[in-house]
Amino acid sequence: MARTPLNLPDFPWDALVPYGQIARTHPDGFVDLSVGSPVDPTPEIIRETLAAATDSHAYPTTTGTVQLREAIVEWFARRRGVTGLTIDHVLPTIGSKELVALLPMLLGLGKGDVVVHPSVAYPTYAIGAALVGATSIAADDPAEWPENTALVWLNSPGNPDGRVADVAQLRAAVARARELGAVIASDECYAELNWIGQDPAPSILDAEVIGDDRSSVLAVYSLSKQSNLAGYRAAFVAGCSALISELLAIRKHAGLIAPGPVQAAMVTALHDDAHVAAQRELYRARRAKLLPALERAGFTIDDSVAGLYLWATKNEDSWQTVGDLAHSGILVVPGSFYGEDPARHVRIALTASDDTIADAVARLELLA
Ligand SMILES: Cc1ncc(COP(=O)(O)O)c(C=O)c1O
Repeated sequence: MARTPLNLPDFPWDALVPYGQIARTHPDGFVDLSVGSPVDPTPEIIRETLAAATDSHAYPTTTGTVQLREAIVEWFARRRGVTGLTIDHVLPTIGSKELVALLPMLLGLGKGDVVVHPSVAYPTYAIGAALVGATSIAADDPAEWPENTALVWLNSPGNPDGRVADVAQLRAAVARARELGAVIASDECYAELNWIGQDPAPSILDAEVIGDDRSSVLAVYSLSKQSNLAGYRAAFVAGCSALISELLAIRKHAGLIAPGPVQAAMVTALHDDAHVAAQRELYRARRAKLLPALERAGFTIDDSVAGLYLWATKNEDSWQTVGDLAHSGILVVPGSFYGEDPARHVRIALTASDDTIADAVARLELLA
């Protein structure tokens, strides 16, 4: 029988390549504010732990070491105010992107099921639905989630728009998901990067959201951003113990195992709040320079109260903005990559060195 290849959307970043080529020809150099990839070094204490763990001859366990599972439980209590978790409520993942893309498959979803995600969103939620033949729907309002919804993705703080869901919004989303019999998963990888107020964004696992009932609720977290660990692929999922054991069983069969040295490094990262605070202040300072420079250059910044991006608009087609900035040597991402329709925003990353941010500010002053 003929094979039917998976019909996935085009990789959107390919469309940005010509703009990158224009920006790279700028005589004063290229200012890349497109990809949200960390640029600062991985903290020394984490690297030391990784280096000490290089004898890793045996297979690691899919469920994670007890030390790692305990560190995740303690981190939730200490940093997110989520109490009552045990090591049976948590599971390491190989970065969070694989979990986001694979969750519909791991939950057994398929044709006829709906996966809901935010109206402007990280594209991998829809990819995960497409991989299993499910339908993805972009809808923020729980009232719009259809009866055949099987999985709801929330993303707070959001990529690309930096929106934060408050406890009431999280509560309403959980209530609607439960009414539909759907699993609800909250992708919270920017939770430690808040610019208004000091506290991390509320977790879906907060008792104020779910009381003591974790059933059908998952929180997904990544150390890529808070700890400059994107290259390690270090993340975890937590929540409903029945779902966690379901995920574990399939991940064991499929060999989806976080590498042993990475598991060790994650323990150190999760126990140390100082490096996270220091990194947060670096991004805060970069944001404090870039945001007013963008406003002086005629941009309006919407949302963007947390996370690693500024969601900026000149009230024009977002490709126009991308093109104009490329001629100033600055590369940013159009809102269309995130499903904005019509796309009128661009996503501008804070993940650039201090020197690059200073260059961006200087270029933007010329546009003011
Ligand atoms: C919203 C969101 N979720 C998940 C990820 C994946 O992060 P990682 O795979 O590095 O853990 C990203 C990365 O940019 C993201 O923005």
